[in-house]
Amino acid sequence: MPAARNARSPLTYALLALAIIVVIYYQPWYSATARDSTFSRNSRSIPANATLGFGALYVVSGPGSPRRQHLEEAAAVTELELRIPTQTAWTDEDVRNFRPADEAESRVLTGSVKAWLSHHLVLREFLASGEETALIFEDDIDWDVRLRTQQIPLAQQAAQSLSEASDLDTKQYPWGLPTDWDLFYVGHCGDYFGDVDKGIGVGYSHPDELANTRHVLYQDPTMLPRTDLHPFTASILTAFSIPDQTRVVHQSKWPLCTFGYAITRLAAERILNEIAPAHEDPSRNVIAYDAAILGGCRDGPLRCYTVTPELFHHMEGESLIADMEATERKIFRPPVDAAGLAQVKYRKETSNIACGFFDGSFYYNGDQERLSYLREEVGRKGRCLKAGQ
Ligand SMILES: *[C@@H]1O[C@H](CO)[C@@H](O)[C@H](O)[C@H]1NC(C)=O
Repeated sequence: MPAARNARSPLTYALLALAIIVVIYYQPWYSATARDSTFSRNSRSIPANATLGFGALYVVSGPGSPRRQHLEEAAAVTELELRIPTQTAWTDEDVRNFRPADEAESRVLTGSVKAWLSHHLVLREFLASGEETALIFEDDIDWDVRLRTQQIPLAQQAAQSLSEASDLDTKQYPWGLPTDWDLFYVGHCGDYFGDVDKGIGVGYSHPDELANTRHVLYQDPTMLPRTDLHPFTASILTAFSIPDQTRVVHQSKWPLCTFGYAITRLAAERILNEIAPAHEDPSRNVIAYDAAILGGCRDGPLRCYTVTPELFHHMEGESLIADMEATERKIFRPPVDAAGLAQVKYRKETSNIACGFFDGSFYYNGDQERLSYLREEVGRKGRCLKAGQ
């Protein structure tokens, strides 16, 4: 034993140190960033880690969801580490227990009750994990191929600038101190600063509204030109006089949909127990989980922030919840989706996503060789590799 220890001469240590430096230097991320000017020019920052700077990424995905394989392939190309808790197949009894004693008073449709319970299951799993923060996704979302290399690092810098901590350790807390925020909407279907039924953007909103709201603007070269943004998003950005290729992180005013929301432990507990408990209170007049969260952000107690335009948006066409509700009521598309549909069809991209997974170009159907190629060229270098882009 002692002989073995003596064998480690200073030269051995020097070689070991050299080896470590070489490994660090030639890490794929590092070299991709250094070599490829298409994103290193605009973003000095290093890519976000595999959980985007949160403790974990969780997905709400029902049993047998047809979206699952595509989501996992998109995550593999972007190199995201997802946790997909096994969901319960909610029974009629679970649904009855959620509803008020007099079921006639219920405002929440069956599909929405099940989605609500599924979010709860994931929140509980997050709390059990001991992680400090988590980002919760729905399983039909889409994102840009430059999410991890450019978009998230830029959004993190914006979030840090809103953090009150003076000695913020940005390595440990890339999104600012978790005591400074409760919920971060990175995926949503719009925060139009008011009820969409009353009107959106130009003619309804004014720069004063933004000025009176805690916010920060930041440039993002991956952003679509305004003509290609969802019409509601384009209109609210114009109404606020926000320049092209600029996003805003602002205190949430009227955030819609829970496609991708980050939470702290405290926020998860409050959502489960007071903001969106698993038992319907008809006097609150809330018809879905996302509406309950909206209330918690708009009216308190949650301190919520929204990234506009959003970095995650749900894909057109495959929503399980909408399909289930279609049998109860003939509503196929909420207003935001209806307004964006024509553009989705001609762009062949998800609303507000410049180069995403919706058209199927970046799925690999289990082909590992194709995956390696897509990871390098699309995921790490951020090249779109689609005709015309
Ligand atoms: C990413 O960074 C966050 C914040 O420091 C950390 O909690 C998380 O564990 C990291 N994820 C991975 C996969 O290293």
